Amino acid sequence: MSVSTIGKTAPSLTQRDSWKALAAHHEIIKDRHLRELFAGDTKRGERFVAEAVGLYLDYSKNRIDAETVRLLLALAEDCGLRDRMQAMFDGAKINVTEKRAVLHIALRAPRDTRIELDGVDVVPEVHAVLDRMSVFAERVRSGEWRGHTGKRIRTVINIGIGGSDLGPVMAYEALRHYSQRDLQCRFVSNVDGTDFFEATHDLDPAETLFIVCSKTFTTLETLTNARTARAWALDKLGDEKAVAKHFVAVSTNADEVAKFGIDTANMFGFWDWVGGRYSMDSAVGLSTMFAIGTENFRAMLDGFHAMDEHFRSAPFAQNLPVLMGLLTLWYSNFFDAQTVAVLPYEQYLKRFPAYLQQLVMESNGKHVTLDGTTVDYPTSPIFWGEPGTNGQHSFYQLIHQGTRLIPCDFIGFAQTLNPLGEHHDLLMSNLFAQSEALAFGKTDAEVKAEGTPDWLVPHRTFEGNRPSNTILAERLTPHTLGALVALYEHSVFTQSAIWNIDAFDQWGVELGKALAQRVIPELESPTEPALGHDSSTNTLIKRYRSLRKK
Ligand code: F6P
Repeated sequence: MSVSTIGKTAPSLTQRDSWKALAAHHEIIKDRHLRELFAGDTKRGERFVAEAVGLYLDYSKNRIDAETVRLLLALAEDCGLRDRMQAMFDGAKINVTEKRAVLHIALRAPRDTRIELDGVDVVPEVHAVLDRMSVFAERVRSGEWRGHTGKRIRTVINIGIGGSDLGPVMAYEALRHYSQRDLQCRFVSNVDGTDFFEATHDLDPAETLFIVCSKTFTTLETLTNARTARAWALDKLGDEKAVAKHFVAVSTNADEVAKFGIDTANMFGFWDWVGGRYSMDSAVGLSTMFAIGTENFRAMLDGFHAMDEHFRSAPFAQNLPVLMGLLTLWYSNFFDAQTVAVLPYEQYLKRFPAYLQQLVMESNGKHVTLDGTTVDYPTSPIFWGEPGTNGQHSFYQLIHQGTRLIPCDFIGFAQTLNPLGEHHDLLMSNLFAQSEALAFGKTDAEVKAEGTPDWLVPHRTFEGNRPSNTILAERLTPHTLGALVALYEHSVFTQSAIWNIDAFDQWGVELGKALAQRVIPELESPTEPALGHDSSTNTLIKRYRSLRKK
């Protein structure tokens, strides 16, 4: 599919026969209960499953039947998902508003693969950067790389925000089990000085290495923190030359890196065809490599790649990202679900929901199609979540008995990385029990049969019919994490292809950034500058200024 044809000739999604067929089918299935669906098919829990790259997906507890799946798959075919996928893998400029290719799949392609962009194979460049990262990371890990005063590096601080932070933070937490424990990583993202202070107050600059991580190297938060970091380090180290030993950059923008004062010999590059939120497996993952080492990092890339290959080649009916993408769309567009809860039953995945928030919502939070037409259907749902058992004692009440439909993704592992008595079986029994309770609920007859007084029965009844997916894997490894992230990346892509939106731009973040630039001098002005905002903003700024003076 050529870029000029992507989205241009497509009829409106809701006018397609495949969409109308789903809408008609929804009218029939919307009132069917999961209790009934399971009772009518004793093998349902074995039938509505798919497995790839060590991830087992049970999607049987969804409000679907075989016909729903058939119609969803037909919609994907009808919307040209296969061509869209091919266009991405072929390096077509599918990020149409920025006229860029979208090739994060090249970041994890094996050395002997060929992926061309404008006639140039990008895989050798990818591996050249990976090789440089490996050499550098291993020098730091082994203690061969020394700071300005000759001390070993004990702490690596990644300064970045958005895609230059969330992936590295998530991966560091997720793979902590595999990390070198005498070399810690910390992360500074917020322009709130508290973030920098708390990350550094107990550190010795002589033992600290900063990674200034920014695709554009123009992001206000990151550059502000990087300047503060340089001042903090030089304050103690007292010599400009120390910068070379304590600062490295990860960016696509060599000019800005040099302007900032970091030698581009200490820069690890990536490319404009990698979106920030799709970059944790590029040089943006340098902190991850420091933590877990080259071999584990490469195992993570292999996991990503294996899922890419599955996505590219598996029939849609067995294709995990396609199925998950379609199910998300099913609830968003036909059941009017507003959100999806991501519930990892694995403490190491505690930052996974936060990571997914950017991946999903910055990608698919769009209101126009590729040709600029306003959509007449909801696009991305809101993703949110917390590690499972903590959530159970917090917000699960609403999922079980509230008035909103919240599809859930449960994620769990058969083996724990930290065996401690009964802990893991208790954890996993909660996962299985929650998805069961959500699906089947508890009828008022069952509640009454327990001797519950009549007045209390409605309060203790669970309607059930709350849908969920369960992703079960053997063990959380770097390989599994790569596969899991790629699963969600491609699920997001699947949805965007059907919604006919650009999942790879993020114009919605620009207005706030521009307005903040306008407000800065107004806050700092010693005199009273003319405030040209609305009355609310003017009053807030004035109040801030008067309190700030104290
Ligand atoms: O605010 C939006 C954004 O552009 C994200 O898409 C990106 O991940 C983040 O800012 C950080 O950008 P950079 O890596 O260029 O500093």
